Amino acid sequence: MTTSGPPHASESSSARADTVTGPAHVALIMDGNGRWAAARGLPRAMGHREGVQALKRTVRAAADLGIQCLTVFGFSTENWKRSAEEVSDLMGLVRAYVGSDLDRLKREGVRIHILGRREGLPEDIAAIVDRAERETAHNDRFLLQVAFNYGGRADIVDAMNRLVRRAAESGEASPTFTEADIDGALSTHRGPPVDLIIRTSGEQRLSNFLLWEAAYAEMVFQDILWPDYGAEALNAAVGEYRRRDRRFGGRAPEPSAVAS
Ligand code: FPP
Repeated sequence: MTTSGPPHASESSSARADTVTGPAHVALIMDGNGRWAAARGLPRAMGHREGVQALKRTVRAAADLGIQCLTVFGFSTENWKRSAEEVSDLMGLVRAYVGSDLDRLKREGVRIHILGRREGLPEDIAAIVDRAERETAHNDRFLLQVAFNYGGRADIVDAMNRLVRRAAESGEASPTFTEADIDGALSTHRGPPVDLIIRTSGEQRLSNFLLWEAAYAEMVFQDILWPDYGAEALNAAVGEYRRRDRRFGGRAPEPSAVAS
């Protein structure tokens, strides 16, 4: 399958033969909680609550597949436009997830990192995410990045401002920056490059998620609603990824060139 590309695209720390081709880093737009609830005549909050269960299943399935890093879109900078009640429900998910799962995630070697702006978050939520990051900072088996109060454009703006500030502090009058500088200043800098972006629920857009990081990521859109997600759906998406030919702007080798 993968015939070319940077080292991260074809290497995995897992010894399992079927995982040696990655993906190392999968990003997920967990869409369809509201529709899942509406189809059952339930309030949207129930859809989000079931979404947390799907997230737990998916983190386990990702680790089993040899994936090293999962980045999930929990709350976008645009989600503040939803009703106060729904915003409060979505904030409550962080409390519930960290409250019920932090100890287990710690034991299983999962490092948690929250992407997005801390300012604007309710104080107790900011404290919870700080705690989750602090208490898992030494873990290195699996990286779970939760984008919360996150927007791809905002993250690029923040990265640029960070670089400009650092340059000013070191007395550089007209700084110029490279792609690697920007890579390193984005909130995603701890993870390997994003190999695969999955969006559930049949919608086909990025919605301001990982705009810079998506440059050469493969995209898979699945019709399943997020609360129904789990190992089977993730396996299907990874299978599709592994059938893709990643060229990173180059060309696939001609069959004769491969033979010689
Ligand atoms: C999109 O569904 C989903 C969200 C806005 C929230 C995603 C959050 C979770 C799945 C829970 C886990 C998150 C954390 C932070 C622990 P939607 O409400 O837009 O669904 P719809 O398009 O069907 O209305």
